[in-house]
Amino acid sequence: MITEENIKLVQNSWLVIVGKANEAGQIFYDYLFRNNPELRYLFPTDTRSQNRKLIMAIALIVNKIERMENIHAEITWLASKHLAYGVEVKHFVPFKEAFMYMIEQVLSSEDFWDRTLQNAWEVVFSEISQAIIVAMQNLESQKQIARIKIKL
Ligand code: HEM
Repeated sequence: MITEENIKLVQNSWLVIVGKANEAGQIFYDYLFRNNPELRYLFPTDTRSQNRKLIMAIALIVNKIERMENIHAEITWLASKHLAYGVEVKHFVPFKEAFMYMIEQVLSSEDFWDRTLQNAWEVVFSEISQAIIVAMQNLESQKQIARIKIKL
């Protein structure tokens, strides 16, 4: 369950990450590819220019997270984008690990990290991931149904 306290903690700390978007992006991609080289092919060859983009785009979601209904459109959009990128449900595990590593690194270096904040991020990130996964599965089953209809 996302609590108001979790939301406040996540929103405030994300401002710090946005302020260091280049460094944060670098840490995230370095960790993700070092520990999961098999995921490298999903991303563009040069992730440097993407670093900021990813961090800024996540800011949009974090700013609207007060109510999950508010981010329904973004979640559906992200789900269809990620399906097109070739992302699979199992990829969310290493992605989350790299994400949590990145925020811990950046926020600790600003003396802005503790167990409460870690827990808040775990909860919020898991809820967002879960919502994207459900939306991906819905889109996939709609595609399956469309295929069956075409066959008939
Ligand atoms: C909570 C989970 C996630 C969130 C919030 C998220 C967010 C985003 C956002 C906002 C973008 C930019 C979309 C665009 O402008 O086209 C993006 C792109 C991308 N994401 Fe995710 N993502 C998540 C999970 C994942 C996972 C699990 C993978 C697979 C390892 C992944 C792989 C990618 C790839 C390959 C791109 C395209 C990169 C590019 O072309 O620059 N994402 N993601």
